[in-house]
Amino acid sequence: MTEMTKSALSGKHVVLGVTGGIAAYKAVEIASRLRKAGAEVRVIMTRASQNFVTALTFREISGHAVITSMWTPVTEAKVEHIALADWADLVLVAPATANLIAKTAVGIADDMLTTTLLAVRVPVMIAPAMNTDMYENPVTQANIETLRQRGVIVIEPASGWLACNRMGKGRLPEPSSIVAEAEKLFSCQQSLAGRKILVTAGGTEEPLDPVRFLGNRSSGRMGYAIAAAAARRGADVTLVAGPVTLPDPVDVNVIHVRTAVEMHDAVLSRYDMSDAVIKAAAVADYRPEAVATDKIKKQDGDLVLRLVRNPDILLELGQKKTHQVLVGFAAETRDVEAYARTKLVKKNLDFIVANDVSRSDAGFGVSTNQAVLFFADGRREAYPLQEKSALAEVIVGHVSNLLKQGGDKHQF
Ligand code: PMT
Repeated sequence: MTEMTKSALSGKHVVLGVTGGIAAYKAVEIASRLRKAGAEVRVIMTRASQNFVTALTFREISGHAVITSMWTPVTEAKVEHIALADWADLVLVAPATANLIAKTAVGIADDMLTTTLLAVRVPVMIAPAMNTDMYENPVTQANIETLRQRGVIVIEPASGWLACNRMGKGRLPEPSSIVAEAEKLFSCQQSLAGRKILVTAGGTEEPLDPVRFLGNRSSGRMGYAIAAAAARRGADVTLVAGPVTLPDPVDVNVIHVRTAVEMHDAVLSRYDMSDAVIKAAAVADYRPEAVATDKIKKQDGDLVLRLVRNPDILLELGQKKTHQVLVGFAAETRDVEAYARTKLVKKNLDFIVANDVSRSDAGFGVSTNQAVLFFADGRREAYPLQEKSALAEVIVGHVSNLLKQGGDKHQF
């Protein structure tokens, strides 16, 4: 940030939650940087954090009395945690301990910070910091994933020398990069305000009989992350989702469907009014020709199934495209680039997100993905393996830019 450029944090109200980890001292610099960027900062400290830093330090840095307890109000507000939740534009928890993350994931509200987190409707950003084993413990990972699915922005911990005298992942990133994340949130926050974005997610199920179906391993995570990212930027988001077990993202209108034909109808009926469509769903190309009314009984010989073609939803969207930005995915196990480029052209897309689904850490089911984006104007952008939530930000950022430029100019 130069002196001439106004920070996107200027005038923003930030509640900074500080929990009891050794990195709590770095939160002092975070508070200071937030203020220098023009934000007003109110600090909530957990009891444990006060073993590492004093409330007095944060009072001096933030310019406000620090909240350390539910029972000793420091403001005039009648219900302090609700007043704070209403006041905030962002709640940033840095460092966030495994304990705070676990409590937030299950909705425990037993102190001022966890109670405020339960009451807020604004973006929440957490920066986990802890010992590597604690961070990698499946319980912590599951809790982080739960928060991510609910729209919490998770700042990945850095790797390096930890307080427990070991190298590993779990360090709180530098205060400058945490503040940069907060700034990024506000600088792109309303970039999709007034835009209608349609996202698809999950697989489809094609019934064979009342108890069986043909399906695939899509969990819906990629599409859900995209829907959440678009909603955070102020878009009016509709998510058409196949059968998944994820909670509905905050501020997103979710339409649940089962089959490819149902997804086709749900998407096509909303296409004209959409500014952009992002098709992350794994749609079945074929369905059984007939669905048995009763459970199919075992026979002596083999069973032959006849499959018929499902509509190619994205192809149809490409043919009917008028003004929409159209984004497809390509799930490939080989010749990723060639197949992706063919789909880009054939389906008249603005860009396509190609993922190599032969990797065990990318594509179906997992929380990470690795993608290469191919654009209609010939650009190619390769991204490293990253959390689906981070890739979602990239994808939504490109959609936002294309909409700004008038995204239909790449049509042929
Ligand atoms: O859900 P996750 O577990 O998070 O996994 C994410 C994912 C791997 C499913 C996702 O990243 C992904 O790659 N989605 C697209 C999967 C797919 O069906 O790819 P495809 O190459 O077969 O289809 C190309 C494009 O056409 C896709 O955008 C697809 O939505 C669309 N399509 C395909 C067939 C069809 N009948 N109608 C369609 O609209």
